Amino acid sequence: MRPLDRLPPRRFETKRLCLRALEPEDAQLVFDLYASDPVATRHMSFPCTGRVEDTRAFVEGSAAYGRGEASDVEAYTWIFELRDTGEPIGSGGFGPKDDFALAGGYILATRYWGRGYATEAWTCLVDWARAQPGVFRIEATHDVDNPASGRVLAKSGMTREGVLANWTIYPNVSAAPRDAVMYAWARR
Ligand SMILES: CC(C)(COP(=O)(O)OP(=O)(O)OC[C@H]1O[C@@H](n2cnc3c(N)ncnc32)[C@H](O)[C@@H]1OP(=O)(O)O)[C@@H](O)C(=O)NCCC(=O)NCCS
Repeated sequence: MRPLDRLPPRRFETKRLCLRALEPEDAQLVFDLYASDPVATRHMSFPCTGRVEDTRAFVEGSAAYGRGEASDVEAYTWIFELRDTGEPIGSGGFGPKDDFALAGGYILATRYWGRGYATEAWTCLVDWARAQPGVFRIEATHDVDNPASGRVLAKSGMTREGVLANWTIYPNVSAAPRDAVMYAWARR
């Protein structure tokens, strides 16, 4: 059993954004937009290596979405675009964490920070996910030194559950594990 018994929509629309499924051909776009930027990726869980091949491996793996059954998919990722211009601004998504829960995250290119776009996109994804009957929990964590992400999660309706000690390695910050803040939505 998996939390999602069907594939999520390949496209969502919000007031200002279009969220469209990541495609295998998006590697260069993702690399240029944020994956090559040490500032944008500082608090992400993947290393900012400066090599497009590394981005390609991630993108091709994530873009398995849309092939096969929902149960085979490890992660669903969408590129966020401005509806007015079609300009890509970032990405985000989620994947099954276990049989009843999803875990996810997001990132924007730095020039689009501070305009509410991450909140708008993440809220759209969470709203869809929590309407799925097999989803009992949606979680996301952020580095303790990345409070802007905590605001996005709180504004999307998720609850701050606490600080997890030595939870994960943020390789662009330090080689040692760091504390993270856990946010979740839970079905009640
Ligand atoms: C985190 C991130 C997605 C936020 O995107 P965004 O579109 O700027 O977010 P929003 O505008 O929707 O909301 C940002 C909130 O953080 C707040 N904020 C920004 N910088 C902050 C800081 N240093 N300390 C505390 N709050 C901060 C803003 O004031 C806003 O909250 P408010 O609406 O209550 O005022 C973006 O900065 C980003 O892509 N960062 C790099 C990748 C990343 O960290 N991803 C999350 C990994 S867990």
